Amino acid sequence: TRIEKAGYKHFMAKEIAEQPIVLADAIKYYCGGGRINLPEDLEFGALDRLTLVACGTASYACMTAKYWFESLAGLPCEVDIASEFRYREPPMPENSYAMFVSQSGETADTLAALRYARGKVSKIVSIVNVPSSSIARESDIALPILAGVEVGVASTKAFTCQLAVLLLLALKAGHARRRIDDDSLAAHLKSLAALPGLMNQALGREPSIAVMAAAVAEAQDVLFLGRGSMFPLALEGALKLKEISYIHAEGYASGELKHGPIALIDKNVPVVVLAPRDALFDKTVSNMQEVMARHGKVILITDPKGAEEAGLGTWKTLTLPDVPALLAPILYALPAQLLAYHAAVAKGTDVDQPRNLAKSVTVE
Ligand code: AGP
Repeated sequence: TRIEKAGYKHFMAKEIAEQPIVLADAIKYYCGGGRINLPEDLEFGALDRLTLVACGTASYACMTAKYWFESLAGLPCEVDIASEFRYREPPMPENSYAMFVSQSGETADTLAALRYARGKVSKIVSIVNVPSSSIARESDIALPILAGVEVGVASTKAFTCQLAVLLLLALKAGHARRRIDDDSLAAHLKSLAALPGLMNQALGREPSIAVMAAAVAEAQDVLFLGRGSMFPLALEGALKLKEISYIHAEGYASGELKHGPIALIDKNVPVVVLAPRDALFDKTVSNMQEVMARHGKVILITDPKGAEEAGLGTWKTLTLPDVPALLAPILYALPAQLLAYHAAVAKGTDVDQPRNLAKSVTVE
């Protein structure tokens, strides 16, 4: 079947907008009656370690998942990009799983990393959007993310669906390792089921994001900051902006700011701070004040309480609906994508086919 833009100006815009629907589909596929329906032979109970490997955006999904596997399941978790992992000869414990995340399922480095892990670990699991792909075929278990065909070179809906599947795996692991009881599992699944509704609300902020993006499009450099599970999203926000608007952008852990990147801050540098009002919010606010003291232009993306507590002095503030901390990386991905999209539109670049990039990187 031919995939159409369905009235959108770009595939990327359509794919961003589709996220509440495809995510709801994925959640329905994997959950029901307060339980998670993942293959029975995924046994996390006595596992020593998990190794997650991917490239680009998919690697940021893996980095986010590390926070979840560690905090929800107490499961040691290593994350690496495939092009480093495959050549490093990393030792892999026998009693461990290796997981490979790939939208296309054809990324050469990720496939080579999978082949490296073969025979070393007890199970090879992949999380893919294309179930007939090489990576899926060479895995012991291939889990579809059910995002539907993604045409835009900049990955959007595949990222949020990867996150949803990884979160379900972490919840399953937490349950198997007796850190999450039946009731709290059901509560987590209930809040996950409410996430598509919150995503719709976040998408409703598109007009104000477009205004911010027009201002960001004037910048030469942009920093993205996040703490905890929002740190990988800072990396993803920066990658998205670079890929399609060609604006130089870097993502940093908020706490790393004073270890170097703060030297870049002046009145011309927008700093996007991804900061829901969570346990670490106060620390992030103080990082933000350091930026403002150097006349950096803070774009704060937060929730109603965060907006109130951060006070005045930001350049722009975007308020998203409240969301459980665990789900924040999925919800906050949307404004990051929209910011990049509208900055690219403002610059007039080829959003769906950015220069020098291919949808699927099958060369090493
Ligand atoms: C994301 O916007 C990218 N274009 C890119 O980083 C991509 O995520 C990466 O090449 C991995 O692709 P895959 O998921 O198909 O393996």
